[in-house]
Amino acid sequence: MFRALQVVLSRGDIGAGPALPGFVSHFSTALKDQKLVGKVAVITGGASGIGKATAEEFVRNGAKVVVADVQDDLGRAVAEGLGSEATYTRCDVTDEEQVAAAVDVAVARHGRLDVVVNNAGIGGNLTPTPLQSLDLVDFDRVMAINTRGVLAGVKHAARVMVPRRSGSIICMASVAGMLGRVAPHPYSVSKAAVVGVVRAVAGEMARSGVRVNAISPSYIPTPPMMRAMAAWYPGTSAQELRRIVERDMNEMDGAVLEAIDVANAAVFLASDEAKYVNGHSLVVDGGFTVGKAPNMPAPAP
Ligand SMILES: NC(=O)c1ccc[n+]([C@@H]2O[C@H](COP(=O)([O-])OP(=O)(O)OC[C@H]3O[C@@H](n4cnc5c(N)ncnc54)[C@H](O)[C@@H]3O)[C@@H](O)[C@H]2O)c1
Repeated sequence: MFRALQVVLSRGDIGAGPALPGFVSHFSTALKDQKLVGKVAVITGGASGIGKATAEEFVRNGAKVVVADVQDDLGRAVAEGLGSEATYTRCDVTDEEQVAAAVDVAVARHGRLDVVVNNAGIGGNLTPTPLQSLDLVDFDRVMAINTRGVLAGVKHAARVMVPRRSGSIICMASVAGMLGRVAPHPYSVSKAAVVGVVRAVAGEMARSGVRVNAISPSYIPTPPMMRAMAAWYPGTSAQELRRIVERDMNEMDGAVLEAIDVANAAVFLASDEAKYVNGHSLVVDGGFTVGKAPNMPAPAP
């Protein structure tokens, strides 16, 4: 029925006439508000946290999504919850063949691919470690997922998008890629490199009609963030840990940073509204990275 209504409205067979004005205006507004109608997206790391919220917002905005992850049960449940517009495929982003296959699943199922969100990522070893004790095995693992996995996603998105001369590639970075000391070194390096990937390839992609952008969010209480907090502050209630992340570690008064805020940024970058936004890192941090208080005694009142 919904599809039929879409067709009718697009033909203009019914306007805001007297028969069904409320019904029609409700659905025509809903359709007009959808920013990704007809688009097909692959979202890596779509089974949880920011990726899950992005999959939900993409479908709400009219996109078809392929949720690609290594958490099969969660990923399938997310896709099932989103209905017929979503499917799940297993994809470990450290394996280039699996990344290529996830892209190919989208094309095989829907005949096109408009958006790839390279979101899959890990924090790595979160135990505070001095530089001289840095674990390079941990570094390699973090880089393999957070940076090489993103580059593999960019590469295979380009393989499909460049011949069509259209597409939007979105890569999940972090404020940790902009500032030192806000996350362990391997994670920070991996996220700075994600922005590096975007900058390296955006010019080449522009000449092919494809856009590549990053999103750099601040702290959000997703499952890995909350697991890290529980390890750092043993014995502290989940409610208090959430408050620390949402309030103490973030900037804005009167607003809480949520996964959906990052999802909304991704919807914008994926949409035609962002048709000339390329090579950008869209920072979603309430101003966290643009200021720093000097280490000085408080001035006299
Ligand atoms: N939560 C935050 O505070 C925050 C802040 C800035 C950036 N980020 C970034 O956002 C992205 C999503 O993180 P999140 O907080 O939603 O975490 P999350 O753990 O909830 O989601 C990450 C998803 O990636 C998947 N994944 C992990 N390794 C994978 C692999 N090899 N192949 C495919 N999928 C894999 C996980 O299974 C998980 O579903 C990450 O890139 C993360 O670094 C998170």
